[in-house]
Amino acid sequence: MAQTLRLCRLIAVAALAVVSLAAQFEREPIPERPEVNEQEIADGKRLFDGHCAGCHGPGGRGALGPNLAKPKLSRVTDAESLFLIVDLGIQGTEMPRGWQLHDLEIWKITAYVESLGKLDPEPLPGDPVAGKRVYESKGNCAACHWLNGSGGRQGPELSEIGAARSVAHLHQALLEPSAAVPRGFLLVTAIHKDGRRMEGVRLYDGPFSIQIRDFSDELHSLMKSELTEVVKREGESSMPSYAATLSNTEMDDLVAYLATLQGGS
Ligand code: HEC
Ligand code: HEC
Repeated sequence: MAQTLRLCRLIAVAALAVVSLAAQFEREPIPERPEVNEQEIADGKRLFDGHCAGCHGPGGRGALGPNLAKPKLSRVTDAESLFLIVDLGIQGTEMPRGWQLHDLEIWKITAYVESLGKLDPEPLPGDPVAGKRVYESKGNCAACHWLNGSGGRQGPELSEIGAARSVAHLHQALLEPSAAVPRGFLLVTAIHKDGRRMEGVRLYDGPFSIQIRDFSDELHSLMKSELTEVVKREGESSMPSYAATLSNTEMDDLVAYLATLQGGS
């Protein structure tokens, strides 16, 4: 009996996995693209302002999400790949699926985003080569951040941060870290029944246990029955502000360097 139950559950889980895989990688064939003209682009802008500008900024110049007003987007190869990103989102990131959008609306948005790539690119102050030196020699960034195969784990990985965030967001993250905490990142303090406190980044929070990475990069699995409280420190960051420790030039150089980190190296 128990075995049949387990088997059923296994089949259910497998079926679910197949369905969600299909949702991720398959859809009906993309309908033929309408002619791109001024009207399509204007309609696309209106849709973009409503659905996308909240994350990608007005004119797609970037906010929490990356700047889209660039001739080459790191995840886009052609019009159809752009269509699919808007339709299906990017798994494992804050880029959502375009549930509410019809295919023809997605083509309009595609036309608008493509038109942004033809505008003059925003000039970036700062020198990425000098910025790499700032990263390596000042601020101890690598103690907390994983980058291209090494570093600490307390903060988020930075190997693709330039593709994921705008320059404005990167500046804000360095000046005022607690104002720019990424979704899903949470500092917690777990208070043990005997009064001991454990601080760190929440990795997993289940009904019976919580997993925390402490500030020396060690993992801890704590049983909730042993704890009196888990304090969720929403909007708090363990990253120091660099407003006072880096000069304006160093800050611009560092941001220019972070903007070049697009993964794949
Ligand atoms: C909730 C925030 C959010 C919304 C809403 C959102 N995006 Fe995004 N988008 C992101 C983030 C964050 C990324 C970067 C993901 C990554 O690569 O880590 C992204 C990535 C992208 C990319 C890939 C960029 C590249 O460099 O290849 C495109 C294109 C894009 N978004 C277009 C859109 C469009 C068009 C809309 C509206 C239909 C939209 N996004 C709505 C957050 C958002
Ligand atoms: C003491 C650990 C620590 C140090 C040192 C540190 N960071 Fe962070 N960093 C974090 C944590 C934790 C977060 C996530 C919460 C937040 O956004 O403030 C973060 C967030 C970020 C983000 C935003 C990530 C995102 O997805 O939006 C960037 C960019 C960043 N750090 C860059 C740097 C750079 C560059 C340095 C060195 C000048 C640095 N950090 C030093 C811990 C640290």
